[in-house]
Amino acid sequence: MSLPRADFLTNFEEDQGQGLRTVEDGYRLLDLGNGHPYNIVHQTVDRHVKRGLGSRIALRYLDGSRDESWSFDQLARRTDDWARFYRSRGIGKGERIFVFLPRVPEIYAAILGAIKIGAIVGPLFEGFYEDALRDRLADSGARLLVTSPELVSRVPLRELPDLATVHVIEDLFPSVPNHPYDPEPALSMEPDDGYIIHYTSGSTGKPKGILHAHRAMIQLAITGRWVLDLRPRDVYWCTAHPGWVTGSQYGIFAPWINGTPCLINGGRFDAATWYRYIDTAGVTVWYATPTAFRMLMAAGTQTRSAHSLASLRHLLSVGEPLNPEVISWGLQTFGVRIHDTWWMTETGAQLIVNLPHREIRPGSMGLPLPGIDVEILDADNRPVPTGQSGQLAVKAPWPSLMKTVWNNPEKFLAYFTQVPGLGKFYLSGDTARKDADGYVYFLGRGDDVIVSAGEKVSPFEVESTLVSHPAVAEAGVIGKPDGVRGNIVKAFVVLREGFPAGEELARDIQLYVKTRLSAHAWPRELEIVAALPKTRASGKIMRRVLKAWETGSPIGDATTLDNPERVTLALSPA
Ligand code: PRX
Repeated sequence: MSLPRADFLTNFEEDQGQGLRTVEDGYRLLDLGNGHPYNIVHQTVDRHVKRGLGSRIALRYLDGSRDESWSFDQLARRTDDWARFYRSRGIGKGERIFVFLPRVPEIYAAILGAIKIGAIVGPLFEGFYEDALRDRLADSGARLLVTSPELVSRVPLRELPDLATVHVIEDLFPSVPNHPYDPEPALSMEPDDGYIIHYTSGSTGKPKGILHAHRAMIQLAITGRWVLDLRPRDVYWCTAHPGWVTGSQYGIFAPWINGTPCLINGGRFDAATWYRYIDTAGVTVWYATPTAFRMLMAAGTQTRSAHSLASLRHLLSVGEPLNPEVISWGLQTFGVRIHDTWWMTETGAQLIVNLPHREIRPGSMGLPLPGIDVEILDADNRPVPTGQSGQLAVKAPWPSLMKTVWNNPEKFLAYFTQVPGLGKFYLSGDTARKDADGYVYFLGRGDDVIVSAGEKVSPFEVESTLVSHPAVAEAGVIGKPDGVRGNIVKAFVVLREGFPAGEELARDIQLYVKTRLSAHAWPRELEIVAALPKTRASGKIMRRVLKAWETGSPIGDATTLDNPERVTLALSPA
């Protein structure tokens, strides 16, 4: 697909002309050495203030009723207030501070203040409930939690002995201080010291705490510049809450390291409101998910035509396959292409991308970032010939690669393999293929992890919450293909004796998961069945057969299975 604006010189082209050629060259974009503290918050906030650029807008918050802007100067002051507060509570280097707030300006300062003093911050998505919160706060040994009066009731405080301080902020929109600026120094860290932890779902076990290190700043700087193509005069909008890795790495660090103002949206998705935000804030660069684009597509052209959207110049997508129809719709609707990017919580930053000046091959996720090597490996971890499918693997390390999996060094090591003659590779768990020019095509997940609306959901976690419902004896959870969300979470459950199957009970079980686990992971469709398919030998629930039931594909050899037939007793459809 050709470029609609061929005259546009990108940061990438300019930088290549000046000798910035790989990810590692990103060091030259940062203030390093010369007495500068080595801390990602120094690069994100303080550096701009010290250079006299503090009056530049850092964020503009919009919701239905509020319109509030903070300059970098104000962001720095508020960050420092939080840093002083954490220090006054005796939090030291490497200790875990969690922030559980809605997406308001204050969450950004609370996150940055924690990192500034050398703590590890854990931002939590505001849609989490008791089960999800307990897992994350307990596993990480969180010492301090910042939250709101509304959200604190969801936190199972009695079950969290390490949590010494719970700080409930009454006012989510405090006035920003304008007193003379007395900077709170950032603690100088080592490149490999941790700064942020994001929990992510696997196909087995509890969510894994992926720890990232300050060295990620290099890759966030360079991808913000090359892939997002950010300049200080842009207005950038990343639609993700900072509880997700996109909302932190590309909603805080990449744009602000590049000195670019960010739009922060409060409230829920609504097509007309989102279009209005673009016009009100004059958004030029926009990073969203295929699900969000498909939801806008579904809202129709009439909703679109009530808005100008002329400010948009660069669109990007992440988290799930970007279908070619959506790219064509984007071109028609906004007059610009949508640029796919591939990465994961574990990779810390974008790895496979469509740079703004390059050809886009619809259906492909793009090319590896300069300095990154991608290979497709067979089941024995050997490269496959061009065009064949296999495991998507990336040569390790790179600057933003996770430092470890919290409390779980074995899980961390299991991500890597030695490829004879090529070195150490990171195994993504995705299956993909490469064409002769190196473009990478996503084919699916190699495991049971469900990607729904761009977020990973672990069937295991949903099943665990389902079976804690008094009526549920057993549960099996799969992803069901969905035209808008990519996949929805679908649950099959078997009831305990004495509970009559019916749609009302099915709905009650759905709501139970929604209000105990998370607003993003509940089963949008739930089917009560007479029995679940299991292997006869080990009694393991066969998600593969559940998938075949749902998609109508053949279940294959059923001789080793118990209950291969689907007997539906009740259904609560999506
Ligand atoms: O399966 C891939 C899918 O999302 C997974 C990573 O999910 P998570 O760690 O939650 O991070 C999401 C945002 C960084 C991947 O293993 N995925 C991510 N980007 C794409 C994608 N699938 C297809 N196309 C993409 N561009």
